[in-house]
Amino acid sequence: MASYPYQIKNFEEYQQAYNQSVVDPEGFWGNVAEHFLWRKKWDKVLEWNFKDPDIKWFQGGKMNITENCLDRHLATLGNTPAIIWEPNDPEERHRILTYRELYNKVCQFANVLKNNGVKKGDRICIYMGMIPELAIAVLACARIGAIHSVVFGGFSAQSIADRIQDAQCNLVITCDGAFRGNKDIPLKSVIDDALMACPSVKKVIVCTRTRTPISMLKGRDVWWEDEIKQVETMGNPPCSAEEMDAEDMLFILYTSGSTGKPKGVVHTCGGFMVYTNYTFVNTFQYKPGEVFFCTADIGWITGHSYILYGPLSAGATTLLFEGVPTWPDAGRLWDITDKFRVTTLYTAPTAIRSLMGFGLGPVNHKDLSSLKKLGSVGEPINEEAWHWFKDHIGKGKCPIADTWWQTETGGHMITPIAGITPEKPGYATLPLPGVQPILVDENGKEIQGNGVNGNLCIKFPWPGMLRTTYGDHERCRKTYFATYENLYFTGDGCMRDEDGYYRITGRVDDVLNVSGHRIGTAEVENAINMHAGVVESAVVGYPHDIKGQGIYAYVICDTNPSKDAELTKKDIIQTVSRIIGPIAKPDKIQFVSGLPKTRSGKIMRRILRKIAENELDNLGDTSTLLDPAVVDEIKRGRL
Ligand code: PRX
Repeated sequence: MASYPYQIKNFEEYQQAYNQSVVDPEGFWGNVAEHFLWRKKWDKVLEWNFKDPDIKWFQGGKMNITENCLDRHLATLGNTPAIIWEPNDPEERHRILTYRELYNKVCQFANVLKNNGVKKGDRICIYMGMIPELAIAVLACARIGAIHSVVFGGFSAQSIADRIQDAQCNLVITCDGAFRGNKDIPLKSVIDDALMACPSVKKVIVCTRTRTPISMLKGRDVWWEDEIKQVETMGNPPCSAEEMDAEDMLFILYTSGSTGKPKGVVHTCGGFMVYTNYTFVNTFQYKPGEVFFCTADIGWITGHSYILYGPLSAGATTLLFEGVPTWPDAGRLWDITDKFRVTTLYTAPTAIRSLMGFGLGPVNHKDLSSLKKLGSVGEPINEEAWHWFKDHIGKGKCPIADTWWQTETGGHMITPIAGITPEKPGYATLPLPGVQPILVDENGKEIQGNGVNGNLCIKFPWPGMLRTTYGDHERCRKTYFATYENLYFTGDGCMRDEDGYYRITGRVDDVLNVSGHRIGTAEVENAINMHAGVVESAVVGYPHDIKGQGIYAYVICDTNPSKDAELTKKDIIQTVSRIIGPIAKPDKIQFVSGLPKTRSGKIMRRILRKIAENELDNLGDTSTLLDPAVVDEIKRGRL
């Protein structure tokens, strides 16, 4: 049975662990790391500077994360479910993969990758739906030291092509299609479009899921199932894990920032393993035998860290759900919870708000008695949603971990430890051991004391942090380490209340959080500007009841679109869908004849944001604008 000697058991232990992690970070993380499987122990726990930045954890350590997620559990947990898979359609049979079965399948597919010429250090793009083969593909890459770059199924061909080109991937793993709610998503066809612009890709492995007719290009495309058969004819040889340096790259995951181009956040093997495991085991207080259900998609960091690597490295049972919370009805998550006696449910505020909208009908009479712990992630949770989750899902007895973290942080940073440290609706509360948050003002001066607001920074490294942005280290430095000297800047605003609890107030840069998905305003503007007839656009966020933030676009066209305004809007939305993907579609488009600009030509987004938020009386000083009259026009035309 798995045991976690570093699991915090009460508030006093939290305080002790926290203090030790600050006074002696190397001793602290070195102790945690002792509980993993290393082929060779590290020479040095930590070496770092935030100036370059150059961060190395467990340097000289040799390991493979899949030996920690699979091999080391076989003797004791071989017959324990590693992955429970629930399909989109409740009528279809679920699947359970024990640790031994998962191990066998990962080795088998790792051999498929090798047969297709994949080597350590190659970049592999994975574009699949939420089926067990996705988990197998990810782990098979890690097994042989190939770097996976998973792209969420909601991104367009153009977005995939950008990501494949940036990482120079040479192989793609995909499915014929994916089921999500009542939709069939034609994954392979999207990949075919993307690959027209990606000469680096020599092979595509296609897994069967929807049996949608697809084109298979001779010499490039092969079926997953045929490739597996070949490995079987070879007698299913074992696949020993590639020996990785702790600081070798494990994966790239693209995320949006304030510029138009998403960046490839790079995580490395050793630190990411130790950090996702430590945070999983502590935040959720995982106990052997429990069933952990994270509703995120593996295409996002939450899925990487808390569907796959965190739980599997801990020998936990993790639930993978193919579908969506509202199909075939809004009781789907509660049915799954009952069916598999889920103990921990980790989901996003946007899902909670959308389910709240259906009232209590779909919840009443569902057996949620197995639930012990709840978690929230991805965006600030409003108090109403927090209480609904607490009262109606947790029946008042389950602690809620409101986990604040980012793609870049690899794992939880500020969060209640379920049932151990205090919780407070809307607050991420206290930092986990090893995390040293500080608030700074515009000039980077630390804001001390309680009852204060500022920009959230972290002043000391933690093992799960990003190391670079793929192919462009300077961009990593500029984005995260140059705003404030010697600090990692999160891009979030934050308050620390009278009790010292942290509450994240949202992004302070030009990044939107729509249904928990990160989208750069510049990316959406670039996509809108690609539309024929559009001269210029400006995109801001506005409060949205379900999505948290909605996308509001102000658009200037070369001719007055008033006659066909509604049609033009639909065309623009279609363009954005094509360029980025459906997740970035504007909710509101307002045609304007000009944008509020300073004399130097800078768009005053503050004013546009206020108008979108309907705070029309509070626009601040508009006298410095090139053409103040434009503001009145925009106010009059507000949607
Ligand atoms: O603004 C914060 C918000 O989501 C951003 C990170 O987005 P992403 O990298 O896509 O990762 C999401 C999953 C970890 C943060 O900068 N955010 C995330 N969790 C919370 C949150 N805001 C408030 N409360 C949270 N619990």
